[in-house]
Amino acid sequence: MPKTVILPMLADGEFHSGQALAETLGVSRTAVWKQLNRLEDLGLELESVRGLGYRIPGGLELLDAAEVRAGLSQRAGELIGDLLLLDTVDSTNAEALRQIESGRARGLVCSAEQQSAGRGRRGRTWVSPYARNIYLSVVWEFSQGAAALEGLSLAVGVAVARALESLGVPALQLKWPNDLLAGGAKLGGILLEMAGDASGACQVVVGVGLNVRMPERAAGEIDQAWTDLFQLCGEAPPSRNALLAAVLNELLPLLAGFEGAGFTPWREAWMARDAYADCPVVVRSADRQIAGTARGVDQRGALQLETSVGIQSLFGGELSMRPQA
Ligand code: BTN
Repeated sequence: MPKTVILPMLADGEFHSGQALAETLGVSRTAVWKQLNRLEDLGLELESVRGLGYRIPGGLELLDAAEVRAGLSQRAGELIGDLLLLDTVDSTNAEALRQIESGRARGLVCSAEQQSAGRGRRGRTWVSPYARNIYLSVVWEFSQGAAALEGLSLAVGVAVARALESLGVPALQLKWPNDLLAGGAKLGGILLEMAGDASGACQVVVGVGLNVRMPERAAGEIDQAWTDLFQLCGEAPPSRNALLAAVLNELLPLLAGFEGAGFTPWREAWMARDAYADCPVVVRSADRQIAGTARGVDQRGALQLETSVGIQSLFGGELSMRPQA
């Protein structure tokens, strides 16, 4: 019995007796009990009360293709390819890259309840607990290679921020190159991966992770200041299906137009949300670090770092930025 069989019954947040669960699913009480244990292994909180049965306090919203599609704008509906909603996957970006290899990935959107090996930038792990956050990958084909894609990851940050703002999420900021922050803590991250010819026809996987309601246990694995929509929106974060649709409504038109327009039309909106504008920072790569003052980004999305020898233009790649101690 896959875990998704018992979950929709418990997703309503109401109590269900072991007997009722067993009867509805047509399995033994022991099988139900094993499934309930597995839910706890997934990090889902399960309450059991003698005489009432079991419930997931507050309920749970599972990903639902019909709900996502219902929230799409006409334009996003025209641009989207296949919509792949998975239960558990190693990484939605990895799955998207596999789909590219199989040749069926044009406009593919892939999301999952859980990632067992979620990827962050610079080889880090992206903590991806079950049914609580957003893990999204979108595949887009470009014809002019990597050079025409400068600034794309920054524009994606703007698109995601706009999507959240459209749902009433307050005061979002962007940290170069592509972190989404609220109150100085990380709310989301963006990871672009590429397949094909870096100087010609290529496919880009745009990966977006958003913390919606990070469970305590999973939060213990995060090694940086983080926040989630539950904290920002006072107990009632937007629905995950609505979030997926809102992000796609911004992201798909951005991807469709980026090769023509580049980062320039996005620059002002990025600068308006720049978390480190005019702040003393240190930019690190694997083998060196440069201190200076962050002065926004140029038309190509390069960080403008004012140093003792003048302005240096730095591109994201494997770089990271921290405030000076
Ligand atoms: C970062 O380090 O800030 C980037 C995090 C990107 C996480 C997302 S979640 C969906 C997609 N699949 C992955 O494995 N990673 C990205």
